[in-house]
Amino acid sequence: MFDKIQLPYAFDALEPYIDAETVETHYSKHLQKYVDNLNSLIKGYEQYTEGKSLDQLLANVNELPEEIRQGVIDQGGGVSNHNLYFALLSPNPKKAPEGKLLDEIHNTFGDLDTLKTEVSNAAIGQFGSGYGFLVKDKDGKLSVRNTLNQNSPAMNGVVPILTIDVWEHAYYLKYKNLRADYVKNIWNLIDWEKVEGLYLNYTI
Ligand SMILES: [Fe+2]
Repeated sequence: MFDKIQLPYAFDALEPYIDAETVETHYSKHLQKYVDNLNSLIKGYEQYTEGKSLDQLLANVNELPEEIRQGVIDQGGGVSNHNLYFALLSPNPKKAPEGKLLDEIHNTFGDLDTLKTEVSNAAIGQFGSGYGFLVKDKDGKLSVRNTLNQNSPAMNGVVPILTIDVWEHAYYLKYKNLRADYVKNIWNLIDWEKVEGLYLNYTI
């Protein structure tokens, strides 16, 4: 059984950048549906899933029986991506990274603003529904990518450490068709302390 994270803030805590109705619907309805679908899908397949994290399943998705593989990509990715997305947002975020992550950002992007621009462009440029990501590889090198639907970068052997959900359900109530405005504003909510923690400590 997999579950959604406990939301570490109130539904209205991310206003004015993300409205309360969007957060409540996104977390309580959309994410919950992915959780329910995933758990019902993997019932009877415990031998493949027990003792593994969701990201471990996604990173080794070809080892799953074919009849549940695409479902785990879609529903499992939906849980993993949303759990990361909601965990990174905060009404009182640390505004910038420091230490080892900041050093690596300098090495890869030159500066933090360039990183933000590249992740934003990846998210805004994702045709249809998907995500923009900052990921690290096994050597701690950073890169930017986007994925379609609920595909997780974990399927490509890298570790997602920052994400922006650009499915319309993430922004449409407030921003309508203006995805770029939503992406610009979400940087006001991304907690770099969380990103640092994932960069330093999280492995799949
Ligand atoms: Fe979403």
